[in-house]
Amino acid sequence: MNTIRKIAVLTSGGDSPGMNAAIRAVVRAAVYHGIECVGIYRGYQGMIEGDFKALDARSVKNIINKGGTFLKSARSDEFLTKEGRKKAYDHLVREQIDGLIIIGGDGSFRGAVQFSREFDVPVVGIPSTIDNDIIGTDFTIGYDTALNTVVEAIDKIRDTASSHNRLFLVEVMGRDAGNIALHAGIGAGAGDILIPEHHLSYEQLLESLAQSKKSGKSSNIIVVAEGDRTGKNIFELADFIKKNDSGYEVRVTVLGHIQRGGAPSCYDRVLASRLGVGAVEAMLEGVERVMVGVKYGKIVTIPFAELLKKEIQKDTELIRIADIISI
Ligand code: F6P
Repeated sequence: MNTIRKIAVLTSGGDSPGMNAAIRAVVRAAVYHGIECVGIYRGYQGMIEGDFKALDARSVKNIINKGGTFLKSARSDEFLTKEGRKKAYDHLVREQIDGLIIIGGDGSFRGAVQFSREFDVPVVGIPSTIDNDIIGTDFTIGYDTALNTVVEAIDKIRDTASSHNRLFLVEVMGRDAGNIALHAGIGAGAGDILIPEHHLSYEQLLESLAQSKKSGKSSNIIVVAEGDRTGKNIFELADFIKKNDSGYEVRVTVLGHIQRGGAPSCYDRVLASRLGVGAVEAMLEGVERVMVGVKYGKIVTIPFAELLKKEIQKDTELIRIADIISI
């Protein structure tokens, strides 16, 4: 087992609310356990370029309430190359780093696995993405905040939908996963929810809209995940509905990056604090190449090898509930 005296922490991939709270927890857990902690700026790219800064308990003051990541984040093409990873490793050696904590999504973890295999560096991951699409944890940091942002936005859209008897198509984030659409769609009372994991044909959608009209719904809201394949995109879908006269006047709203920003919810701050401390303690116990996660309310560790080979299953129970309560 390696002796850990100094660790480094970085944030990678898309930012998510609560990343700062996670960095804060990592730094303070390191200080608490008597080891040093270094922040790496701009994710893997900063590791390649040697953009390191020593952090202490006070370096992370006043950030628990802030969205984004003060360490900044990047998607690094250079880290996908062996040469890039070697440069990154050389900087870790120069800085005498004994272990690395990666705060990010599954793409970031794939990079971490490759890196730790090639250079035998202990790595622990903290799941942080608004998409909540990582196996092995019930929740990822930022998801709860993003859901609340989306629900608040749709509540506002509902005012106009209902005042003008309109049908709104609202696009939410989620390239590969429909978690945001499904959960926020239920929370905001959507009539239909379109997600990549559960295909709805054009015909089924028109049929559902016709049913809604018939049952007396004067306005309607359809939540569409970014990655849904019902149409080429949400605008094409809106055109199709307009052409086929659903009986509603149609409008489109794309929520976009407002879903990634803003102050983290209390849930995300607490989750980030638990996972940050959990990651440092796992590393000190010699548990490595794992992600820390939360399962049934408890902090757990899952080997990267296990979580990266599995595919997320669609939530059939929630899809059924959404169908029942939207009649
Ligand atoms: O993975 C998080 C996420 O917000 C996805 O939901 C979205 O598809 C993607 O990132 C957008 O990435 P970018 O900000 O690089 O356009």
